[in-house]
Amino acid sequence: MSDLLRLLKLFRPYWLWMAGSIALSLASVLANVGLMAVSGWFITAMALAGLAGVSMNYFTPAALIRAFAIVRTVGRYGERVISHEATFRLLAELRTWFYRRIEPLAPAGLAKAHSGDVHARLSSDIDRLELVFLRFFAPVTVAALASLVVVAVLFAWHPQIAASQAVLLALAGIALPVLVAKAGGAPSERLTHQGAEMTTKLVDMLDGLGTLQAHGFDAAHAARIEALTCGMIAEETRLSRLSGLSTAGVGLATNMALFAAIALAVPAVRSGALAPADLAMVALLAMASFEAIGPLPLAAQSLGGTLASARRIFALADGAPPVAVPARPAPLPLNAADAALLSFRGVGLTYPGAARPALCDIDLDLMPGTRTGLLGASGSGKSSLVNLALRFWPPETGRISLSGTDVADLDPEDVRRQISAVSQHAHLFTASIAENLRVAAPDAPLGKLEEACRIAQVHDFIAAQPDGYDTLVGANGLKLSGGEARRIAVARALLKEAPILLLDEPGEGLDRATETAMLEALFDATGERAVLYITHRPVALERMHALLLMERSRIVDRRAAPQMG
Ligand SMILES: Nc1ncnc2c1ncn2[C@@H]1O[C@H](COP(=O)(O)OP(=O)(O)O)[C@@H](O)[C@H]1O
Ligand SMILES: [Mg+2]
Repeated sequence: MSDLLRLLKLFRPYWLWMAGSIALSLASVLANVGLMAVSGWFITAMALAGLAGVSMNYFTPAALIRAFAIVRTVGRYGERVISHEATFRLLAELRTWFYRRIEPLAPAGLAKAHSGDVHARLSSDIDRLELVFLRFFAPVTVAALASLVVVAVLFAWHPQIAASQAVLLALAGIALPVLVAKAGGAPSERLTHQGAEMTTKLVDMLDGLGTLQAHGFDAAHAARIEALTCGMIAEETRLSRLSGLSTAGVGLATNMALFAAIALAVPAVRSGALAPADLAMVALLAMASFEAIGPLPLAAQSLGGTLASARRIFALADGAPPVAVPARPAPLPLNAADAALLSFRGVGLTYPGAARPALCDIDLDLMPGTRTGLLGASGSGKSSLVNLALRFWPPETGRISLSGTDVADLDPEDVRRQISAVSQHAHLFTASIAENLRVAAPDAPLGKLEEACRIAQVHDFIAAQPDGYDTLVGANGLKLSGGEARRIAVARALLKEAPILLLDEPGEGLDRATETAMLEALFDATGERAVLYITHRPVALERMHALLLMERSRIVDRRAAPQMG
């Protein structure tokens, strides 16, 4: 229930749209009921007048019928237009809201969630939330209001008919939906989770299709997806059966209302309590009012799944960001030329659930215009240093400062603006090479892109492509070798004008000659930047001003470069 209330709170900016849609929907339902009732009365009254040979005023009822028909049609049209407009606005708002909530979590806070699962939450779960208004909130409100009006009108004609109508409306509109919600809640909730699991599995499978095939594991994976499908079909069947039963239940109540109205109205007509022509009107009024009740069982049935989606969304959105953003971030400090741009003091880090720390007691100073080499075996903690500098993770102990200011007092985005990094697993988007490069420098002219790519030794390769810098790369474009992608990532980092440059194994995947050429050109171009060059192979280390050696989470040796052999 609290999830439902929280959802409705999210809808608050759109309450005018929703109220408008509910008002129009109510008007068209009531117009339809009115149309049936007046038509019934009119036809009967005309027939009786004909039999008795008297004339009657048929202008008023005919005008009423026309008015009801127009209101019904226009109301229904308007209601569709407004409710869909409201829903789309809401959907856009919900998606941006959710995205804004999860963005600060990335990447550390989302590490536990599979990307397919996040994808499922962003798409199908959010889609389902929009239905809360369209399929639940609006029909329930309209049904309640329409039933009240119909029972009140019937009461003026015949209190007993009104009472029997109230009982049947309550049975079909309250008791039946409650039963359906009880029976359908669990299967519809399971279906939501199965759907999400399916998306997760499929995304995972598509990502790793080559690996699965190479290991002959694709059949097992396909079997798992088939089992999941069977489970989903079983739940779907259960829900279809239930919705069939509930539709039959509403139909039964509708016909019982008609029957009860006639059974009570006939004696009333006989005794003269009810005019003969009113019989048809009262009976049709009773029957037509069930139109508003029709959607309620289905609304109740899907509620379980919808709330499960809401819970999935809230669970991720409520995660605390791993790196807290200060309420009032300090302004970015100015750096004096002789002070460290980035410094670590006694920094330690243990990843959640890890048996041993990834970093212990790290002291490090990156000075403007100097290059620091960090050499260490795989797993020694080098990339974790970059994660901390980029504020993807908070340090567990110690202090990291940017030009003397503790980074904990700064906005993480401000910190990242000062740092340009080639991370170990740099991502290339499905976009042109130029667009991938301009992620770092949106306004850079082509000349600048070329200059950076020349340094990264990748310009000749790009120029040799038929589309040059417009060549599409990534998942749906040109497949790049690891070394080519790496060099584009290096060029991208060079394009970002930040005073600190972090290079995490920039030469990975390159042959020795290309690697050396790239690093030489790169280090010629670093100028006044403070550079940290991370590597596990001793390449181009003679270009460093200082050298650190890392072993098992610690810096175990540090030397000034001239001492290097
Ligand atoms: N996101 C993470 N969550 C948990 N453990 C991690 C994570 N990233 C790295 N580690 C662990 O921390 C240690 C250091 O990793 P890393 O900094 O990537 O080393 P290097 O870059 O020197 O190869 C490794 O034991 C690795 O398994
Ligand atoms: Mg690494």
